[in-house]
Amino acid sequence: MTAGGRWASALIFCLAGLFIPHASAGDYYQFAEASRDGTGKFYLGREIAQVMGHLGAGWLERPQREQEERTDRLLELLALEPGDVVADLGAGTGYFSLPMAQQVGDQGRVLAVDIQPEMLAIIERRMLSEELYNIDRILATESDPRLLPQKIDLALLVDAYHEFSHPREVMEGVVAALAPGGRVVLVEYRGEDPRVPIKPLHKMTLDQAGREMAAVGLVLDRVHDDLPLQHVMVFRRRDP
Ligand SMILES: C[S@@+](CC[C@H](N)C(=O)[O-])C[C@H]1O[C@@H](n2cnc3c(N)ncnc32)[C@H](O)[C@@H]1O
Repeated sequence: MTAGGRWASALIFCLAGLFIPHASAGDYYQFAEASRDGTGKFYLGREIAQVMGHLGAGWLERPQREQEERTDRLLELLALEPGDVVADLGAGTGYFSLPMAQQVGDQGRVLAVDIQPEMLAIIERRMLSEELYNIDRILATESDPRLLPQKIDLALLVDAYHEFSHPREVMEGVVAALAPGGRVVLVEYRGEDPRVPIKPLHKMTLDQAGREMAAVGLVLDRVHDDLPLQHVMVFRRRDP
């Protein structure tokens, strides 16, 4: 090929690169004008909510929460066993991490995962004051929960998933971290129910949650609908 021919080929190659769509992480998401409490980023038709900042910690720890949400019942439904390894994704103040650490005992572990160091600092203070030493605090990135592969028996996500800015990437990390037989328990305010007094982007419907979990290879195993405000959705890995 002449020098001119080589230049022409290189030019065509570069121009093709501009027009051929690339398979990149960005392909999972669409962008539009943000609605109130929204980010303007959409995943499978759902607008992702804004992250609740650590200044909202008091709301997570409000004394009436147990009664309003029956968080005691949720902890029962999880049916944890001593020795289990549990990841609390979007752990916040550790509202669930601490009681779960008691349930799994010295032989078990709770991995409290959050992107806000201030939340993890609250968990550390609380675990030291309650003398619980089986909680690892993991500072995640928005797209990587930083979990080791095939280690966890249960991934719990309470009122957190709907605000993950990279839900696809985070859930791929969670699925890779499941031990054989492991469960993902997704707890979200019921999006189908207008009586649930929560902003729309902070709720999810069963349909939407099912679609998003299916995208990472999870299937709905069962739904507990005995909590007053939230769906408790139990997912397992689809058989290969
Ligand atoms: C509304 S709080 C819920 C906290 C806790 N699960 C509870 O029910 O008390 C949501 C938490 O998710 C965390 N979060 C948001 N995006 C995250 C991500 N990509 N990975 C891990 N945590 C995330 C936030 O920092 C926040 O602490």
